[in-house]
Amino acid sequence: MSSPRSAVATAPVSHAHELEIVEVVAETPDAMSIVLDVPEYLESAFRYHPGQFLTVKIPTDRPGGAARSYSLSSSPHFETDLVITVKRTPGGYGSNWLCDNAHPGGTLTVLTPSGHFTPADLDNDVLLVGAGSGITPLMSIAKSVLIGGSGTVYLLYANRDPRSTIFGRELTSMLAEFPTRFAVEHWFESERGRPTADGLTRALELFSAYDAFVCGPAPFMSLAREALRRVGIPAGHIAVEKYRSLEGDPFADVVVAPPSADEHTATVTVTRAGQTVELAWPRTTKLLDLLLSQGFDAPYSCREGECSSCACTVTSGEVKMLKNDTLVDADLRAGLTLACQAVPISSEVSVDFDQ
Ligand SMILES: Cc1cc2nc3c(=O)[nH]c(=O)nc-3n(C[C@H](O)[C@H](O)[C@H](O)COP(=O)(O)OP(=O)(O)OC[C@H]3O[C@@H](n4cnc5c(N)ncnc54)[C@H](O)[C@@H]3O)c2cc1C
Ligand code: FES
Repeated sequence: MSSPRSAVATAPVSHAHELEIVEVVAETPDAMSIVLDVPEYLESAFRYHPGQFLTVKIPTDRPGGAARSYSLSSSPHFETDLVITVKRTPGGYGSNWLCDNAHPGGTLTVLTPSGHFTPADLDNDVLLVGAGSGITPLMSIAKSVLIGGSGTVYLLYANRDPRSTIFGRELTSMLAEFPTRFAVEHWFESERGRPTADGLTRALELFSAYDAFVCGPAPFMSLAREALRRVGIPAGHIAVEKYRSLEGDPFADVVVAPPSADEHTATVTVTRAGQTVELAWPRTTKLLDLLLSQGFDAPYSCREGECSSCACTVTSGEVKMLKNDTLVDADLRAGLTLACQAVPISSEVSVDFDQ
């Protein structure tokens, strides 16, 4: 272990990489898949789990930059390229920029894959409940369970009508290929009206022993969660992916002011991937900023307290989070904190990214 080092402004460890677009596929009139090539030297950095997402830098003149997250619709179990699938949001900046500008031969700057919306075991049976562009991570999970595992997959998929259904043709071929392990119930608003909690409960009642994954617009997700509760799936077996736009710029440089001579810094001991460092931690500096400014390769994505990519366990001492929109009570009881939002309370703190 080294002796405590002082924080200074230096070039941060960057998880950002430029990837080439090799193909653009129109999925519906307002959604497209963007296929990204991963060069060999980046293969390990871009290894991912089904259900994870990329964060994409969107060019803008706006001060503060623009970045948006997009779930990977590809499966790490048989596809070598990365695929994100973007649906235009009316009046939205990032989704329309991507749909208007992404082209083969162009590039996107992205952060390495992130996220916890991923099955613990591909041999478990999974219940996927999605609407609209919420299908994207569910598609990655479905393909991965069917090809990389032995679980059964049931998908309930709500859309306005067949024309607006992303991956409609691909789902039909998956049904033909896995007739005993895969089933889909399409819920078209044009035929059945908007989904209701009662209707979803009836549709899902046979699946109380499955691990559930829910993704879609906020009103649909609250109906689906209510239905899953009524069906009797325990909260610990329901994973939810909330779509929202990032407000800040996770691609921006990290600048950490050196502590003044009379500042009483805390000391933090940090472990990740078997490596341990001890650093002087200025009281108002967020832990992730400190780590990146010191060249320590800590995980992150949003840097806004929303995605939990930077979660780590406080093994001794006390920290406070300036914002937390993602960790739930059980996580906090287990000692988790968000490095991107944590500042020290006690003088000595130890955190572990490996636990
Ligand atoms: C983990 C994760 C995974 C995701 N995966 C996907 C995916 O696979 N596919 C996908 O399509 N999306 C996905 N999203 C959502 C995506 O990141 C964007 O939020 C989405 O594309 C909308 O971004 P936008 O820039 O087009 O819209 P924004 O510009 O963010 O606008 C969103 C809405 O706000 C309104 N708005 C914008 N600016 C203002 C303003 N100043 N005042 C009032 N209203 C305003 C717009 O009119 C629009 O209705 C994901 C999000 C997360 C967090
Ligand atoms: S990086 Fe997203 S919560 Fe910290």
